[in-house]
Amino acid sequence: MSYLENVKRRQFLQYAALGAMVAALPDFTLAEDRPINHMPDPAFKPDVEIELTAQVAEVSILTGANTRVFQYQGKLLKGPSHSLKTLPGYLGPILNLEHGQKVRIFFYNKLSEPSIVHWHGMHVPQKMDGHPMYAIDKGERYVYEFEVENRAGTNWYHSHTHEITATQVYQGLMGLITVTDAQEQKLGLPSGEYDLPLVIQDRRFTAGNQFQYAHGMHQRIMGFQGDTILVNGQANNAIPVKSRAYRLRLLNGSNAKIYKLGWDDGTPLIAIGTDGGLLEKPETMPYIMLAPAERVELWVDFSGRKLGTELTLQSLEYQGVMSPMGGRRGGMGMMTGGLSPGALFSIVKFQVTEQVSDSPSLPSQLVSMRRLTEKDISNAGKTVPIAIGMQHMSFQLNGHTFGMHKHMDIERIPVNTIQKIRIFYDHQMMSDMGNRGGGGRGGGMRGGRMGMMGMMGNIPHPIHLHGQQFQILSRKQTRESDGYDTVKNGFINSGWKDTVLVMPGEEVEILKPFEDFTGLFLYHYHKLEHEDMGMMRNFYVG
Ligand code: C2O
Ligand code: CU
Repeated sequence: MSYLENVKRRQFLQYAALGAMVAALPDFTLAEDRPINHMPDPAFKPDVEIELTAQVAEVSILTGANTRVFQYQGKLLKGPSHSLKTLPGYLGPILNLEHGQKVRIFFYNKLSEPSIVHWHGMHVPQKMDGHPMYAIDKGERYVYEFEVENRAGTNWYHSHTHEITATQVYQGLMGLITVTDAQEQKLGLPSGEYDLPLVIQDRRFTAGNQFQYAHGMHQRIMGFQGDTILVNGQANNAIPVKSRAYRLRLLNGSNAKIYKLGWDDGTPLIAIGTDGGLLEKPETMPYIMLAPAERVELWVDFSGRKLGTELTLQSLEYQGVMSPMGGRRGGMGMMTGGLSPGALFSIVKFQVTEQVSDSPSLPSQLVSMRRLTEKDISNAGKTVPIAIGMQHMSFQLNGHTFGMHKHMDIERIPVNTIQKIRIFYDHQMMSDMGNRGGGGRGGGMRGGRMGMMGMMGNIPHPIHLHGQQFQILSRKQTRESDGYDTVKNGFINSGWKDTVLVMPGEEVEILKPFEDFTGLFLYHYHKLEHEDMGMMRNFYVG
């Protein structure tokens, strides 16, 4: 049985077990009239031209047998040689772009399943955004052309294929994008070998060193939880450093795992950037919560640390995120071998292997930023809702699951406006369902339903919006929750964001510009298992 058949079969069994309709199964046949962009536009004059191919590869991750992965392989056709940097392992090449550059990417799919690439965090037109409607089949090509409008920062790219995003990203279809601009260059931040990307992911391996993807119902609800941490696609990471300052670009590239980042010796973290790039000034944090798809840039200074000393970046303990089912059965701990959500484990170790005498020092001011306030809202008094809830046995956003081309009236946004968006848990919907779930039907199903209702409101949800990045206006906790105290000082609310972690019971208000481009732009849970289950919607900007 092929991997995909396997996935389909297991998904079928789970959906069947959940009593959901078979119509919810992935359908891998692509429509004939797909609006795919096969050909380059002769009027578009690229500064950088890249070929990116999704294919099967074999890489060495653990000692012993190689691991079969999906991988983006890149080739630079035109532009500065540093525009594309190949890494060892399965991650796609790093695309190093500059603000204002025109970029053309030829994407080739050599996998035996459809695929499409999304440039997460990049502000690009609908046709260039990798909406699942544009998925291409084996042997086809999609041509992306866009201008880099982002500020200096760290973004990424990954598969966004209808209902198989989780499995494709899990198998390796992702890579980093850096953007630089004039403001950043003036700062003299650590660069070259002192500018380190750190993509954090969790995986699970078979005895034969192959990626193992768990499909149990609990894993689908909690999202995939691995038992091995990989950094930049490698296990057991120890990075040699010099006794000076470094810039670390962290991306949580996990499907669902949430990290609470902290240094093992209690040194506070110094953040200089978030999803949307550099902050106005550095922020000192006791720890930082990093949900899937979120980025944070850290300044870490090893100056004065003796030769041979080590500093470990850990995920610290936190509470309030266990589903009732996991708690009651103690399932997660068993399933993840100590890396259950909220457990303490180490991510990457830095070892001082060389002493140097000079180091750049941390600038007190970084870059300027366009600050949004409530005064900027285009239609004051009208808030766009993003309600997290569930109905008819499925998790939803605003009362619905994903429809490829669908949007509702409340999801219509006039172009070139700034909107206030309120993200909240729809408890009405959940308790309503809880009551209905409690009656009528027989035995095991009822327990399952109740379990799911409870779980939904008790797990954190990273919410991601495509298109332009946004700013956080407010966060508030709407109900008693002891666990919240263990995470609440770990949010950076001062920078541009494209993904926000909404803790159980939390309500987050954001301000988001919808400028320049019209069309369909996704918003969804960035736990990829949830996204594939249909917890995704379109905004129609027009
Ligand atoms: Cu990281 Cu819809 O994407
Ligand atoms: Cu995105």
